[in-house]
Amino acid sequence: MTDVAPLQVHVLNGPNLNLLGEREPEIYGAERLDDVLQRLRLLAEQLRVELSFAQTNHEGELVDLVQAARHSDGIVINPGALAHYSYALRDALAAVRCPVVEVHISQVHAREEFRHVSVTAPVVTGLVIGCGTVGYELGLRAVVDRARRG
Ligand code: DQA
Repeated sequence: MTDVAPLQVHVLNGPNLNLLGEREPEIYGAERLDDVLQRLRLLAEQLRVELSFAQTNHEGELVDLVQAARHSDGIVINPGALAHYSYALRDALAAVRCPVVEVHISQVHAREEFRHVSVTAPVVTGLVIGCGTVGYELGLRAVVDRARRG
């Protein structure tokens, strides 16, 4: 892996994901966002990825983060509830050229009806849904694979 060029990948998290581990643990598990980040850092090292990681509770800030990441090699994003209704986030993601994987920790299709819709899903490269926090690692592997294949 040392002979391949490093990739810049952004892992972005929307509202309430800062409460991971504390918030509805029966749905989202006991791990904190920091634990997820530690695991992602290990994987990023193996994959030759320079990882940038962010979380915000604010829609406009997430739009800014997506815009700032648009010239990178890939984005892994858990938009939280914004996936279900934010056309501003959808438009920001539609403007991105690099591979984008949307992650949902929980199986949103087996939950309340409003979670069955993702307005962002049609404009991303792929989705990882209901795989728990390992979904972030699957998402990272997927964007890296897509970016390196060109
Ligand atoms: C979530 C699912 C959303 O419906 C919810 O609003 C979240 C987390 C998930 O990771 O399962 O905040 O995106």
